[in-house]
Amino acid sequence: MKVEPAASLKGAMAVPGVKGISQRAVLLAALADGESRVTGFGRAADTESAIAVARAIGADVVDAGPEEVRVHGVGLRNARPPGEPIDCGNAGTVMRLACGLLAGQHGAFELVGDESLTARPHERVAEPLRLMGARIETTEGHAPIRITGSALHPVTYELPVASAQVKSAILIAGLFADDGPTTVVELYPSRDHTERLFESLGIRIARTHHSVGVWPVERLDPFELEIPGEFSSAAPFIAAAVLLSGSELVIQGVNVNPLRAGLLDVLGRMGARIAVFNRRTVGGEAVADLEVRATPLVATSVEREEIPRLVDELPLVALLGAFAHGTTRVTGAEELRAKETDRIETVTQALRAVGVHIRALPDGFEVRGVPARPRGGTVDAAGDHRIAMLGAIAGTASREGVRIIGPECAAISFPGFYDLLADLVQTGDIEAL
Ligand code: S3P
Repeated sequence: MKVEPAASLKGAMAVPGVKGISQRAVLLAALADGESRVTGFGRAADTESAIAVARAIGADVVDAGPEEVRVHGVGLRNARPPGEPIDCGNAGTVMRLACGLLAGQHGAFELVGDESLTARPHERVAEPLRLMGARIETTEGHAPIRITGSALHPVTYELPVASAQVKSAILIAGLFADDGPTTVVELYPSRDHTERLFESLGIRIARTHHSVGVWPVERLDPFELEIPGEFSSAAPFIAAAVLLSGSELVIQGVNVNPLRAGLLDVLGRMGARIAVFNRRTVGGEAVADLEVRATPLVATSVEREEIPRLVDELPLVALLGAFAHGTTRVTGAEELRAKETDRIETVTQALRAVGVHIRALPDGFEVRGVPARPRGGTVDAAGDHRIAMLGAIAGTASREGVRIIGPECAAISFPGFYDLLADLVQTGDIEAL
């Protein structure tokens, strides 16, 4: 697939529901007593993996509409061992959360995933769950993961890496503990979708800035949940609209949870003009409409403390840095090496291939901004949805366009991505930026 240079991005758009909330909602609904209804569900390969896991353990999941699922749960401790491996596909959140969810069940479960998910580090989840009494074994740190349900007890656990997936797995296991609270302490706060969902479900939690505790429950009531738009799916469009002169883009109904929307702060420092308006709350989450216009950018630095709030947007920060006056530096982001690909390497390779001056660091990257469009070239998505979308946005802001090898992996988080981009791009004088 080739993405041609564009003059600007114009129009109004909306994005599918937050991927991580869609996954969390389906997995928790699978353990509720009765039928839950989830609207604004973000359809994507990764959220289909959550549905597949829910079905594998005995929940009845009905596709009630393009953005609606109904889940008839099995009851808190009634997950049914399917007698065959449960496939989590490419979805790290699904595999990690399922570990917490299955640890307190009865019977034996095995979690498998695709090549990328298999290779990712999973001891980070198994270790704290073992401290709670879980019987869980990884395959030399990787998948398959084997879990035999057991009695669990509460722990207080300090996360060695900032990871909402690990935090969430522990908190979900805490629902099954013989007492409470099960507490997770984190130095740099990560996204709190699980905590917010627990609150809307009436689960007792206690939060401070750096910790969250959860008390066990007897049962989970079925629930209704509306899910707002996914910030990480809006982010590539925000980046394109900031870069392409003359752009005027409105994005409606985006989740602007402060622990997710760190890119807005970074862009603010870089001089971008993004209006955040119509602020409201949907499903316990902050939501707003965004209006984005193109602006010349100045370089910035993103350091460790800020990383969890924009971890999935760091590839786009590198691209934005390529157009900013000065040198943009991302450090303290070694977690990028544990994502769907080693994103320090894949981002560096992708952007270098299109003519960006980028250098990999052990824990991030450094990008020298140039006040002109990069040439363009060929980007290998390497099966990583964020790299495919990065390549496409780089294509719109390039002189000659970007050919993407393996573009279809964008569907892991955003199946309609290329069609939406094609609807919004305006052709014209592509030399100007
Ligand atoms: C996610 C958390 C992040 C993020 C991933 C989704 C979640 O991973 O990169 O795409 O839904 O909790 P870590 O928490 O492991 O950093």
